[in-house]
Parts: sequence; structure tokens; C-alpha cells
Amino acid sequence: RSVALVGAPTNLGQRRVGVESAPETLRRLARDGALAPPGWDVHDLGDAFAREDGFRSAADAAADGGATPFAAASAAHRKLADAVTRALGAGRHDVVLALGGDHSVSIGSIAGVLRDAPSARIVWIDAHADVNTERTSPSGNLHGMALAVSRQRRGLSRDDSNDFGGAYDWLRTTRAPPLDLAKRVTYVGSRELDPGEETLLNALNVSRFTGVDDLRAFTASLASDDDPGSPIHASLDVDVLDPSAFMPCVGTRARGGLTTEQCVDVLRALAATGRVRSADVVELNLEACETDEERAASAANAAALLNALLKSP
Ligand code: ARG
Ligand code: MN
Ligand code: MN
Ligand code: MN
Repeated sequence: RSVALVGAPTNLGQRRVGVESAPETLRRLARDGALAPPGWDVHDLGDAFAREDGFRSAADAAADGGATPFAAASAAHRKLADAVTRALGAGRHDVVLALGGDHSVSIGSIAGVLRDAPSARIVWIDAHADVNTERTSPSGNLHGMALAVSRQRRGLSRDDSNDFGGAYDWLRTTRAPPLDLAKRVTYVGSRELDPGEETLLNALNVSRFTGVDDLRAFTASLASDDDPGSPIHASLDVDVLDPSAFMPCVGTRARGGLTTEQCVDVLRALAATGRVRSADVVELNLEACETDEERAASAANAAALLNALLKSP
């Protein structure tokens, strides 16, 4: 079996430096044979955009007051969308893996996936819901708005004037349909929602599986999907794991969370459906933690999750 890697080395969706280096870390794990189980052939397709095009220094992030550089972020995401569609369409790879980068890269990968398969399901495995608009976002960080942009193709700006300056207009002219949250998205592990997100997800009645019992319900629900033929895109934000024990090296730590083992079980269940065609792995930031032990554990646990998502042949 073949897994394609597409790098998305960017930190523009939030204010910390370090997350843009995760593709290199994950590639190193791949070269060491830690990323995919035996029987998988890893094909590295390189980065979708130049690292400097997806990078902002800590000083610039602070000087901007944290405002997201939407035009630059959007240009990078558009390139990722093209790379993902191309990799899926080539038909040579069983799974296409987008290596972030912060979670705003999912705007690109999801557009790339929906263009290839409009009926694809998105499983959002994350401590956060990432469905803020500019109006509801407490931070202004784009990684917390990824699904809102995929859904509305605009930012719903605070003052109704600029819509990210039109940066995401390309989403409206691409063949990808807007993402229907209620129909296509399932949340797993979300535990830290902002009030506006909570309101939106309740209003739309979006599926969420959070606690350990819920995880079992989620894996059981996979068997009774009403559209069992549709491919699955797993968007894996590694901060879904408990930062105090399993994943300290992330930019947005949320108290509590899954053990590596619990998350591995969920990912294995997903893999067992045979429907996982693509995934993101995002938010691993080896500069956001303190010690070498923390870095080693975070990287190893990220690799363990990817292993679980790739079904042993
Ligand atoms: N909800 C918070 C925000 O909108 C945190 C989002 C964190 N997102 C992430 N992909 N780590 O800023
Ligand atoms: Mn090969
Ligand atoms: Mn996220
Ligand atoms: Mn998160």
C-alpha cells in the first residue's frame, strides 16, 4: 500500500513559531520507518508551498497584534488544495497525508478533497472545534476558524466589510462544494469550545463525540453510516491528546484529553472501515514545549497516531 506525504509548512494561522517545522519532523520519522506500519510504501511529494511563503516570525506576529495575514495564508492553502487534488487523482496512492503546519491548512486540504470527492466525510479529531468566524473568534487566529471558512467560504468579518479582503474568493470558483457541517462533519474529542462555536454546532445539530463512552459510540456509529461508500478525510489535530501526559508540544493546550491509546483505538476503527483516503496531521510544535523528553514523546506519539490510521495490510 502507498501513502503520499504533502508538506504544508506554515505557521500563519496562529502566532507561534515552530509548527511550520513539523513536516520536517514527520518526514524524519517516516525515514526512520516510524510513521507507517510495515507493508506501506511512503512517497514524499515534497512541500505544497515554500516554507518562507507560509512563515511569520514571532516579532512580526507580535507587531501585527496577532492579526492573521489572510492573503498569504490563503495563497498557501490554495497550493495545498491543488497538491492534494493532484495526489488523490493520480490514483497511485491509497492515502494522501497533509503534514501541517497549523490547523488552518485544512482549509486547503478539505477543498482539495471535496474537489476530488464531493461526498467525502470529515472526521475532525481535535480538542477544539475550529469553527469560529471573525465575529466569534476570541483570538483572531485563523486556525480556530478553518471549518467556518470551509463552510461559508468567507470570514464573516467583524464589521461586515472585508471578508478577509476577499482572500478566500478562490474557494467559490473551485469545483469544491461548500462544506455542509451537519451532513459531512463529525467531531471527535472536542472539549474546549468558544461560546459562538457551541451555539453554532447546537443550532446545526452537528455530531460530536467527546467522552470515553462517546468514543465507543463513535466507532460503533461507523458501522451504521447511511453512506458507507463515501471516503473519509481524518483531520487530526494532535492537541486532542492530553498535553500533560502525551502531547505537551502543541501551541494551544487544552486541559484533559485523550490518552494516546484511546486515540489509537479511534484511528484504528476509522482505518478498519477501509474508507480513509486522506488525512491531515497538524499543530505539532516542538518549540512550544520545554524538554527533550517532551519533544521525543510528542513526536513518537504523533507517529503512533499515524501508524494507527494506516491499516496494516
Ligand atoms: N478556539 C480558540 C480560537 O479560536 C483556539 C483554537 C485552537 N485551534 C487549533 N487548531 N489549535 O482561537
Ligand atoms: Mn514506491
Ligand atoms: Mn485544531
Ligand atoms: Mn486543537
